Amino acid sequence: MENYILTNGVSIPKIGLGTWHNTDEDTVEDTILNALKVGYTHIDTAAVYGNEKFIGDAIIKSGVPRENLFITSKLWKTEYGYQKALRAFEKTITDLGVDYLDLYLIHWPCSPSKRDDWAEVNAETWHALEDLYKAKKIRSIGVSNFWSHHLDALLNIANIKPMVNQIEHHPGYRQQEVVEYCRQNDILVEAWSPLGRGMVLQDPTLEAIAKKYDATVAQVCVAWCIQDGILPLPKSTKADRLASNIAGLELKLAQEDIDTINAMNLGSSSGSYPDAVAF
Ligand code: A2P
Repeated sequence: MENYILTNGVSIPKIGLGTWHNTDEDTVEDTILNALKVGYTHIDTAAVYGNEKFIGDAIIKSGVPRENLFITSKLWKTEYGYQKALRAFEKTITDLGVDYLDLYLIHWPCSPSKRDDWAEVNAETWHALEDLYKAKKIRSIGVSNFWSHHLDALLNIANIKPMVNQIEHHPGYRQQEVVEYCRQNDILVEAWSPLGRGMVLQDPTLEAIAKKYDATVAQVCVAWCIQDGILPLPKSTKADRLASNIAGLELKLAQEDIDTINAMNLGSSSGSYPDAVAF
């Protein structure tokens, strides 16, 4: 598995397995065991997904050594603030059955639409992540769903800069402004829902491109991310799709096809905008 290198020198596998909405114990176990078998070494979860315990159990069952895996989790919104973040982190690693995380993210920014003191809330929370990083309980730290104004405020107070920003990103919804911002600040962009929650998989433009390479549209989505230096986190619960999606790492798209995909405009598949989400 090829890696990206984060600003602190930590290697992160170029593709990861998304696990949102995978909450049934048996399905989680099958998914993780199948994913590890076909070559995934990078698993992305979050406290709010409610599956950390099941993922931890499946990893133990797999027999794959902890140090061969890259495990990410995320701090949920109700746990923001310094002390609450420290406690939530302890619960996450206990549930996962590990004694460190490879990457820990603030799941969503506290935003100006929610609280006047949003920047302070994010700052306090970030300082908890920094201290966990300094204590070597987390190998790298970052954020998720942060847009430029959230990052501006965070970079103003950060002693350690975020190494990752995980955002919604798929053909037709590139979020180019925040992607450029992250590039300029050496923050690796991870793509959640790189398949547009499955909704872009029947798009005729993408189907035509996939056909040229005898590939699936999901593989095209994966390759398109990688060739742009972005880390895709596709989700699937099906063994055959897990295997075929990861094979997208081998696909090389021609520049004309990348340009065609870059020009698509389908909008967000989730409709979850950081300053407008209801939760
Ligand atoms: P399933 O779990 O049944 O495979 P995203 O990662 O963009 O959020 O997309 C996830 C959705 O896409 C899930 O509903 C998943 O369903 C579906 N999916 C994942 N891989 C494929 C694939 N290769 N072909 C069709 N659907 C897929």
